[in-house]
Amino acid sequence: MSKPVVYLTRLIPDAGLDLLVKAGFSLRINQKARGLSAEELTQAAAGADAVISQLADPINSAVLEAWAPKCKVVATCAVGYDNIDVKAAAKLGMTVTNTPDVLTHATADLTWALLLATARRLGEGERLVRAGAWRGWEMMQLMGADVFGQSLGLIGAGRIGQAVAKRASGFEMTVRYVARSEKPEMTAIGATRVDLDTLLTTSDFVSLHTALTPDTHHLLNAKAFDKLKPGAILINTARGSVVDQVEMIAALRDGRLAAAGLDVFDGEPAIPKELMEMDNVVMLPHIGSATVRTRTRMAEIAANNVIAVLTDKPPQTPVSVG
Ligand code: GLV
Repeated sequence: MSKPVVYLTRLIPDAGLDLLVKAGFSLRINQKARGLSAEELTQAAAGADAVISQLADPINSAVLEAWAPKCKVVATCAVGYDNIDVKAAAKLGMTVTNTPDVLTHATADLTWALLLATARRLGEGERLVRAGAWRGWEMMQLMGADVFGQSLGLIGAGRIGQAVAKRASGFEMTVRYVARSEKPEMTAIGATRVDLDTLLTTSDFVSLHTALTPDTHHLLNAKAFDKLKPGAILINTARGSVVDQVEMIAALRDGRLAAAGLDVFDGEPAIPKELMEMDNVVMLPHIGSATVRTRTRMAEIAANNVIAVLTDKPPQTPVSVG
């Protein structure tokens, strides 16, 4: 009998590949140094028994229909799965899995890195030094915003939001959050659940930790930016489309938003020219989970999920279809 085939839309760390090979699967890996379009994915994974995918892969219903019925599982190496039509997958009898939990702390750490970098203008400082333009200590140079003792507003209080909130206690911040329900973990650390308007009008830092769904698409729009506290800073390590990027750029330009720290973008990897030219924006290439240990664990979980489904066992981290 021929070996089951696993198609990988991009390379993953060796630990994941090793598990798949040991389990007796044959691997096909996208060799292009970029992600594939829906049409390319349809062709490339045709005939595969499982697909290990990544968060930018456009796995829509047409792609899934083309992969079915041979393909039993799509295992994404990410916690977010807004790029996969999970309802269509369920209808086709395909399992979808993700990699929650293991990336919580790496992503919370990166949120803090971005928050501090944005508040204290690290990007501008680094560019100045590298350009050889630093003329020595100056009283008036690169004055940023305080973090210690300020207020932090979290939109979304799941695993990552909670981990970000816990780190805020060292900075003695007032933490407020927006979530569908009260979170005992947040109450325990002194964070208060508020409505979105209260969060927007009271937060020095607004940080996004919600999944991208039809309800959260462009949640931060012109109306929301109008309500911000003067000097407010936005941090986004969730998904670019939770923010109306055009309106965010307008708010950054006219000062309703003092600065933004962004790990994600609407339509990434394309970045609007206006953002590129703004000094009050710190930008990263979607690296929230990018530590060696975390990415290794993500690869192992995705591989183990594939192994489970292809050997008729329950996967560790299935995505539930709401
Ligand atoms: C990263 O953005 C993820 O969803 O894992």
